Amino acid sequence: MSIIQINNLKKSFVDRRRRGRNGEAPRPNSEILVLNDINLEFAEGELVCILGPSGCGKSTLLRMIAGFDHPTEGEVLIDNERVTKPRSDSIFVFQHSGLLPWMTVWENVELGLRHVKDLKKKQETIQEYIEMVELDRFEHHYPHQLSGGMARRAELARALAVNPNTLIMDEPFNGLDYLTHMKVREEVVNMHEFMQKTTLVVTHDIDDALIMGDRVIVMSGRPSQVKLDTRLPYGRPRDVLKTPELLDLRDEIFFMLGVSYVV
Ligand SMILES: Nc1ncnc2c1ncn2[C@@H]1O[C@H](COP(=O)(O)OP(=O)(O)O)[C@@H](O)[C@H]1O
Ligand SMILES: [Mg+2]
Repeated sequence: MSIIQINNLKKSFVDRRRRGRNGEAPRPNSEILVLNDINLEFAEGELVCILGPSGCGKSTLLRMIAGFDHPTEGEVLIDNERVTKPRSDSIFVFQHSGLLPWMTVWENVELGLRHVKDLKKKQETIQEYIEMVELDRFEHHYPHQLSGGMARRAELARALAVNPNTLIMDEPFNGLDYLTHMKVREEVVNMHEFMQKTTLVVTHDIDDALIMGDRVIVMSGRPSQVKLDTRLPYGRPRDVLKTPELLDLRDEIFFMLGVSYVV
C-alpha cells in the first residue's frame, strides 16, 4: 500500500523583497514559482533520498508533507487523507539541532511521550531508544555536553520513540564532520532496516543518496520538477565504488546537477 501521495503539487511564494532600482517605486509583489507540478508516491517502508540544487524547494516540499506549509495547488495525501496540519504519525527531523538545550537527553526523548500515561512503559521506551542510538551513558547529559554526532543520534532517538509511521529528515548530516557523518548515516540505515519506517531524506550529498536510498529522486532547479526518479535495487551495506551501475548513476546525477564530477 502506498502511504504518501503528492498530486499535481505547485508551490509559489510571494516575493516581497523586490525593490525598484535607482529609487524607483517598489515593484508590486511578484510570485516565485518554486515547485512546479510535482507528482510522487512513496510506498510504505521506503527509504527515499531527495537531491536537488540549493534553493530548488526540497525543504519546502518536506514541510508540506509534514503539514507545516500548504501547497498553492494540488495536494499531499497520507493514507488517502489530505495533509492540512502536522500529524502525530509523521515526525520531522530538522536541519539544525532541534534538541531543547535546557533538557537532558532523557527529557528530550520524553518530550514526545507526554501522552503516555503508564510511567513504567514510558521509562522503558525512553531507555530502549536511548540504547538503540548508543547513548545509554549520556542520558542525563545536556545537549551542549554532547558531540555533534551524539546530539544528532539523540534527535533520532526522540523521533523514533514516538513510533511514527513516517520520518522526514531535512539534511540530517549537516554540520557533522566526515566520520561522524558516516556513523550517523549508518545509524539511519540500520534504524531503517530494523524498523522499516517510511523515511524521506533530503541530502545534498549524492553518495548519501546512493548508499542509503531504496530510491533516489533528483529535482531540477527552480521552478523545480522531478528530473529523475529511480529505484536502487541493491542490498546494503553498499560500496558505490565497487558497483559500476551506481558509479554510472553517480556521474549521471552530477551531470544533472550541473557539476562535472571528473575534474
Ligand atoms: N516562507 C517563504 N517565503 C518566501 N520564500 C520562501 C519561503 N520559504 C522558502 N522560500 C523560497 O523558496 C525557495 C526554495 O526554498 P527551500 O525549500 O528552502 O530550498 P532548498 O531546501 O531546496 O534549498 C527559495 O528560493 C526560498 O527563498
Ligand atoms: Mg533546504
